[in-house]
Amino acid sequence: MSYQGKFRVWRGDDSGGALEDFTVEVNEGEVVLDIIHRLQATQAPDLAVRWNCKAGKCGSCSAEINGRPRLMCMTRMSVFEESETITVTPMRTFPIIRDLVTDVSFNYTKAREVPSFAPPKDLAPGEYRMQQVDVERSQEFRKCIECFLCQNTCHVVRDHEENKEAFSGPRFLMRVAELEMHPLDTADRVDQAQDEHGLGYCNITKCCSEVCPEHIHITDNALIPMKERVADRKYDPVVWLGNKLFRRS
Ligand code: SF4
Ligand code: SF4
Ligand code: FES
Repeated sequence: MSYQGKFRVWRGDDSGGALEDFTVEVNEGEVVLDIIHRLQATQAPDLAVRWNCKAGKCGSCSAEINGRPRLMCMTRMSVFEESETITVTPMRTFPIIRDLVTDVSFNYTKAREVPSFAPPKDLAPGEYRMQQVDVERSQEFRKCIECFLCQNTCHVVRDHEENKEAFSGPRFLMRVAELEMHPLDTADRVDQAQDEHGLGYCNITKCCSEVCPEHIHITDNALIPMKERVADRKYDPVVWLGNKLFRRS
């Protein structure tokens, strides 16, 4: 069963652009990325779109569909009414390169700013031992496919270019939390999260968690526990004194 679907797709580049209307064939079982590919094949051969796996695993095809940040390859056409006009726009938080492709290098910059795992100096690879519970805690965060939909959604940077320098965003605050929760990591990630990655900007609205295609509980399991550790260190006088005396180096 197929029908002619109505689409509005943003076309343009960093100097400006506009939504363009298209009518495209839709077939049973298709996803939004199939429609974008058919649009390229039949009416707009120069339409720029980034994709790779078409299986929700590479994190390349992030866009906004009817205003909601989603993966195009994981958004089934069957969730829309046949009469509905479906609007596809690029992620709003990052600079436009062309059409649906944005420059996500902000995220790579922030990734590089997180110091890597720092095991004890005398521990050789292969000698690491961890409890299963510690493995499981970080495994949830390791499901991240780096689609950057959470980064795109977070209101701290979405319409606030001026916050980008000080705020690393949910994906990289989650990375800091993952390392902080690692029993063998020796770096001090608590002050780092607050002072260098802007944890204080986060007011736990959970919008990042709502759009995560891997259903990672970013706010509940990474951001809130980090905020609790910051609060303990800064405001609990016993912990504060203990940290002054026995701080990890
Ligand atoms: S919970 Fe924090 S990081 Fe997530 S969207 Fe809200 S403010 Fe941003
Ligand atoms: S945490 Fe989720 S939404 Fe954010 S980049 Fe990773 S997979 Fe995407
Ligand atoms: S194409 Fe890989 S996640 Fe959509």
